[in-house]
Amino acid sequence: MVLEEQMKNKLALFGGEKAVKSEQGDMFKWPIVTDRHEQSVLRVLRAGQMSGFEVTKEFEKKYAKMLGRKFGLAYNNGTAAILGAMYGLGIGAGDEVISPSLTYWATAAPAYSLGATPVFADVDPDTICIDPKDIEHRITPRTKAVIVVHYAGMPADMDAIMEIADRHNLKILEDCSHAHGALYKGKEIGTFGDAAAFSLMSGKSLAVGEAGILFTDDRKVYERALLFGHYIRHDEITLKELKPFVGLPCGGFKHRMHQLSSAFGLVQLELYPQQMAEIDRAMNYFCDLLDDSAGIRPMRPPKGTKTTKGGWYFPLFKYVTEELEGLSLSKFSEAVTAEGSICNPGCNKPLHLHPLFTTMDVYGHGRPTRIAYLDESRPSEGRDESAKVEQYVESLPVSEGINRRVFGIPWFKHYRPEIIEEHANAYKKVVKNYRALLAEDTEKDGNGSSKAESQIGGYSSFFSSRKNTQ
Ligand SMILES: Cc1ncc(COP(=O)(O)O)c(C=O)c1O
Repeated sequence: MVLEEQMKNKLALFGGEKAVKSEQGDMFKWPIVTDRHEQSVLRVLRAGQMSGFEVTKEFEKKYAKMLGRKFGLAYNNGTAAILGAMYGLGIGAGDEVISPSLTYWATAAPAYSLGATPVFADVDPDTICIDPKDIEHRITPRTKAVIVVHYAGMPADMDAIMEIADRHNLKILEDCSHAHGALYKGKEIGTFGDAAAFSLMSGKSLAVGEAGILFTDDRKVYERALLFGHYIRHDEITLKELKPFVGLPCGGFKHRMHQLSSAFGLVQLELYPQQMAEIDRAMNYFCDLLDDSAGIRPMRPPKGTKTTKGGWYFPLFKYVTEELEGLSLSKFSEAVTAEGSICNPGCNKPLHLHPLFTTMDVYGHGRPTRIAYLDESRPSEGRDESAKVEQYVESLPVSEGINRRVFGIPWFKHYRPEIIEEHANAYKKVVKNYRALLAEDTEKDGNGSSKAESQIGGYSSFFSSRKNTQ
């Protein structure tokens, strides 16, 4: 009996029994493909309509209605939807757009294609979305817009952000690629800004394939986006100032969504609310089980606020190394993984440190691209223009330290309490026995440092570098 107890407590990393023993089945399989999806896709395939747009228009209308926005415009990926939205909003040469540094590159990089410059702000340590307190002092006469990312499913602080935007007459573009169906104080994300863009690639909560979508209530934004990259639909353009240019895509881009994705998406839209409800129940159950564990903190909106995480894309926990005597995140993760659960240290690397956003001359302007279109007639008050390169290597402490402070947890797609409890037990067991790990933790007190950083998703998607969760 004593031996049995000892074996139960012995960490799997040291030869003990694994905490996760059950067959996981389709617990993490995503997207869920049904006969209905297959029939919908086959219909388009057999009709040879892959490059058409009627099914896509149906998808746009249905999604826009669900979200409560006037216009939806589908794209071949989320990156293109962001670029189209930026053009739609009138962002152009010499403009600055404020973006969080902690995000996937596609939030900010498309600005370069328009001659605009991303200016990076830090994130709030609780939500890890753009910190409203770090926005205002970055606003200059050149600032046109703020891009808000609802990062890892967590809605950003929209009250504070909208208030700043109103006061400074700035456009808001919501990048909702991580947060389909999430609510901020009862209102769906993607309905706050002047425009919203969603990635719909296969790893996202609302997974459609390689696709994206733009939403807006503003006809001008919609028609400008059509003009930019949807030449085949220029008959929808009504605005006098745009009419003379119809016929060719003024951006030189072709942004049309593949109709096999649209057909798949039509079924996804019907099934998503129910799937989301099940994910929400499963993830909240997992968080409830671990709410009181030392060293780890579920990252979810406070209860009773009507703010939700929707589909919980890329669910994260915080790591509080101080409560585990400095145990590194990489050692902690190794031990949880050995128990058969999922614990992936880190998230995206901050963008402001990458040479693309500091020194690189992408298009041969003879100076860094981010100042290539600097318009001297719109000076940024109080700033030394020649020092602008340095400005971008300033410290954004939360974004720079976050990869040692958060980790990815299992993203359950079904509410199956026995399996979820096993995963929670894996975490509890490691927390309970953390002292056994300290002796062989070469990175102790380093907050995870090098090894953890080499494991993280980095600048690309965390999707490609992770097993099981996405
Ligand atoms: C925050 C964010 N924005 C934009 C994108 C770009 O979407 P896509 O991969 O569909 O081009 C992604 C994709 O991972 C993302 O995570």
